[in-house]
Amino acid sequence: MTTERAFTPALGRVAPVRFYDAVAALTRERRWRGLVVAHVAPRPGEAIVDVGCGTGSLALLLARVQPAARIVGVDPDPDVLAVARRKADAAGVVVDWRVGMGDALEEVGADVVVSSLVLHQCPPAMKRAILAAMHAALAPGGRLVIADYGRQRTRAMRLAFRVVQLADGRANTQPNADGALPGLIAEAGFGDVREVEVVPTMTGSISVYVARRVGTGAPALGV
Ligand SMILES: C[S@@+](CC[C@H](N)C(=O)[O-])C[C@H]1O[C@@H](n2cnc3c(N)ncnc32)[C@H](O)[C@@H]1O
Repeated sequence: MTTERAFTPALGRVAPVRFYDAVAALTRERRWRGLVVAHVAPRPGEAIVDVGCGTGSLALLLARVQPAARIVGVDPDPDVLAVARRKADAAGVVVDWRVGMGDALEEVGADVVVSSLVLHQCPPAMKRAILAAMHAALAPGGRLVIADYGRQRTRAMRLAFRVVQLADGRANTQPNADGALPGLIAEAGFGDVREVEVVPTMTGSISVYVARRVGTGAPALGV
């Protein structure tokens, strides 16, 4: 894995990462994180990789719900991982935290890859590269569960999403708002791609997408 390439930090251009959890609370995170966990339905012994894990909230929730799963949290930012480690220690929860970019995942044959609020911050080429790396990291039949800002279907949600666009830039965020993610997930080689939840929040609507690595072939888009 490499940490030499540029990435947008958790709060974009707006604030240091120590404020991230307070800001994330404004996104109805208990609601959508709970939905992500329900769709993952983690089982004992499963290997679950959280890509762009940030301060670790989702990885910790998964570890609490299924302590017999092996959870790996990957993020390029050592500062957010330091927060994640502190939270895990305080909760007495074991997660394997690793510094790394989402487009340089190890091909570990994971059972599940999850990711939340990462792709909207990434340039279009990076969105594609991360999805291809997720596909390669999964075992055949492995599940993908992504929560992120998706198609903003109403005027109210489009207006609310502007605050995210101010923080993270319009070029990277607009494809999400236009509903590009399901197509990008399918382009990366996934099958059974579905938007299974849409959660309106004061920062725009957050969608949960599920998909599956089908067959044994290489992803449609190599990196
Ligand atoms: C908005 S935060 C979301 C954090 C966490 N997943 C959550 O749900 O709270 C986005 C995270 O994505 C990470 N990130 C940004 N670019 C990335 C990339 N190319 N690959 C992997 N992670 C990336 C950032 O460091 C940050 O921690």
